[in-house]
Amino acid sequence: MTTSSRRYHITTFGCQMNKADSERMAGILEDMGFEWSEDPNQADLILYNTCSIRDNAEQKVYSYLGRQAKRKHEQPDLTIVVSGCVAQQEGEALLRRVPELDLVMGPQHTNRLQDLLQQVFDGNQVVATEPVHIMEDITKPRRDSTVTAWVNVIYGCNERCTYCVVPNVRGVEQSRTPQAIRTEIEEIGRLGFKEVTLLGQNIDAYGRDLPGVTPEGRHLHTLTDLLYYVHDVEGIERIRFATSHPRYFTERLIKACAELPKVCEHFHIPFQSGDNEVLKRMSRGYTHEKYRRIIDTIRQYMPDASISADAIVGFPGETEEQFENTLKLVEDIGFDLLNTAAYSPRPGTPAAIWDEQLSEETKSDRLQRLNHLVAIKAAERSQRYMGRVEEVLVEDQNSKDKTQVMGRTRGNRLTFFAGDINELKGKLVKVRITEVRAFSLTGEPVEVREALPV
Ligand code: SAH
Ligand code: SF4
Ligand code: F3S
Repeated sequence: MTTSSRRYHITTFGCQMNKADSERMAGILEDMGFEWSEDPNQADLILYNTCSIRDNAEQKVYSYLGRQAKRKHEQPDLTIVVSGCVAQQEGEALLRRVPELDLVMGPQHTNRLQDLLQQVFDGNQVVATEPVHIMEDITKPRRDSTVTAWVNVIYGCNERCTYCVVPNVRGVEQSRTPQAIRTEIEEIGRLGFKEVTLLGQNIDAYGRDLPGVTPEGRHLHTLTDLLYYVHDVEGIERIRFATSHPRYFTERLIKACAELPKVCEHFHIPFQSGDNEVLKRMSRGYTHEKYRRIIDTIRQYMPDASISADAIVGFPGETEEQFENTLKLVEDIGFDLLNTAAYSPRPGTPAAIWDEQLSEETKSDRLQRLNHLVAIKAAERSQRYMGRVEEVLVEDQNSKDKTQVMGRTRGNRLTFFAGDINELKGKLVKVRITEVRAFSLTGEPVEVREALPV
């Protein structure tokens, strides 16, 4: 079979893990001879990489699928693939719902795409959702950016937060070896990327499934050790990591971040709720006091660190008073950014079948009140940048004003300034901040640097 003139399109929903998986699958498809098609309707192979974290994310997929299924009736050689978390959650049920599908594959099968497609091209309808040991990747991902890159360090999640579908769809924790991670980062550095973000759903769990303990009984491989291990990779100027879990976040990690110059002073540590009773029923394994202590410690070591988080409102049984404890935490901490969501019952999770589900009105009212406070606090946090000189890594043009480029500060604030993208892409620029908004900044360039002194 020849695939040389075939075109593909990938639509990605969900989190950074899914985006990273999509880049890998794009790499595999290009190795197979497929070419990217910007227009999904011109593509011979359509892949939806799906998310099921909340019901609205899942429903979106079905409306997209409906349209492509129709197209298949006119173009029978169209290949339709559903990957990611809805694929894992629904498995064969998806085929019953959309019989036009050729391949349904869970996230653990990402690196097997070529094999699975071969089975499809041999005339089969394929469902790949059984748990597997994730293969080390041998294909080169087709990365969306040429400046920043994602690197998976641990797959899956062993937590059992009572609202969350991720452990069901992403499977148990599987850490990559430090060597494999370093090799990938070295390659990324050689290709001219400047920033890497190490990824895991619960990145603090990194290494606990790898063999070896220290004489003190600590795991030999931890996120902290990994940061030291990859820190000197040539060409890489900045290192980030996400997502941190308050239950496992250590002072040792905070020290490493303060000590290692390439590690950015930005922490994404979801707290979910500011109320201890709710946290307990979520099975999060910490109290709001512990969360506050973590943030205090971070700020002792790095007073200017940016803090972002996720929070859920309207968890089953959440009282007005408990919700106000979330508001209070947000008021006290002052997040640079907070992703907020109304609780959405997910299939196969404990909280979904509890009594005391709250009404949509209550949930959306609380969400609005929280978002209002978040915007006020983020605007306050932005004020500290006014007049300061910040280091910005230029990623792209400002899509709304082509005379400007955009990048991020070390604290992850989106920043715009006048400049030519052809000259500045991938450069670290010192920018004096002249305008601040809640979630972004504008400034003027002061100095362009090719690279940080090693
Ligand atoms: N591993 C990360 C988060 C993964 S999911 C952690 O432990 O924090 C990303 C975010 O989606 C979560 O932080 C949570 O805020 C939100 N989320 C997860 N399940 C949800 C649900 N059932 N309803 C609403 N929001 C949810
Ligand atoms: Fe979900 Fe909890 Fe795992 Fe995060 S730590 S992915 S919220 S189960
Ligand atoms: Fe969604 Fe799966 Fe990520 S459910 S948030 S794409 S792990």
